[in-house]
Amino acid sequence: MALMFKSNIDRPDWWRRELNKYVPDLEVRIWPDIGDPDEIEYALCWKMPHGELAKFRNLRAIYSLGAGVDHLLADPDFPRHLPFSRVVDPNLTGRMTEYVVQHVLNHHRFCHAYDAQQREHVWKEHFAPFATERKVGILGMGELGSGAARALQFLGFDVAGWSKSLKNIDGVTSFFGDDQLKAFLARTEILVCLLPLTPETENILNRDLFAKLPEGAGIINAGRGPHLVDEDLIPALDSGQLSAATLDVFRTEPLPADHPFWSHPKIRITPHVASISDPASVARLVAENIIRTKNGEPLLNAVDVNKGY
Ligand code: GLV
Repeated sequence: MALMFKSNIDRPDWWRRELNKYVPDLEVRIWPDIGDPDEIEYALCWKMPHGELAKFRNLRAIYSLGAGVDHLLADPDFPRHLPFSRVVDPNLTGRMTEYVVQHVLNHHRFCHAYDAQQREHVWKEHFAPFATERKVGILGMGELGSGAARALQFLGFDVAGWSKSLKNIDGVTSFFGDDQLKAFLARTEILVCLLPLTPETENILNRDLFAKLPEGAGIINAGRGPHLVDEDLIPALDSGQLSAATLDVFRTEPLPADHPFWSHPKIRITPHVASISDPASVARLVAENIIRTKNGEPLLNAVDVNKGY
């Protein structure tokens, strides 16, 4: 019983150890040293080169190493008929919640402005309203978006979420569907993108959307790089339509050293670390799905390949 493992983070031995705790007879082979591809029954992966998964003729299931699955579904030869799952894990949600809270607070308390002032040795106060008067909007109210919304609501922020369908979360206003996007944006002073990347959400953070936010709004993108139209961001920051942007994800990762985002004073960059799948908790979930695959049972956190999440 062999599993092919491919990650972009250098911790394959840790994953092997954790998986073997729960499935001792599982042979974990690290891509690209996977031996005979016909012996591979399971694939646990992040960003496989296109065409690669289709080479495993005896594959029984595919497990994404992350919450997002766009990196796999972009492969035109992805075996869409196989059982396919993604990560839904309280620790992954918890880490994303930390990231969102950290950066919403930075925007709320003018950290970008103070960083710039410190560089110039300028002592000048900016008046932050009470959290109850600060309107935060979350684009995408799945597992990660709902977790962040709850924490922000607990801190007292005036939180709304926008998603495809109505969500009922105590104290969080729900906007849904294309018709309600404009109203959601009109009230959002700090916008957080946690959408899945699908053809419908690609390029959603663009000039038109920025123009619908109140002037001086801040944005945080912890979804995917292609949600943002890169060329539209800097003009929106330079004109003051946006006050600042925090970006964790990029069209090309690592972000090329000569990309203008690196040196823009109103952009804060983190290297796709908002939330990371932790072997200590995610391996248990993957193991459960391996056992389910063996028994012919439906997977936990199964992906709907037509929806793209
Ligand atoms: C990270 O980006 C993930 O999809 O979990």
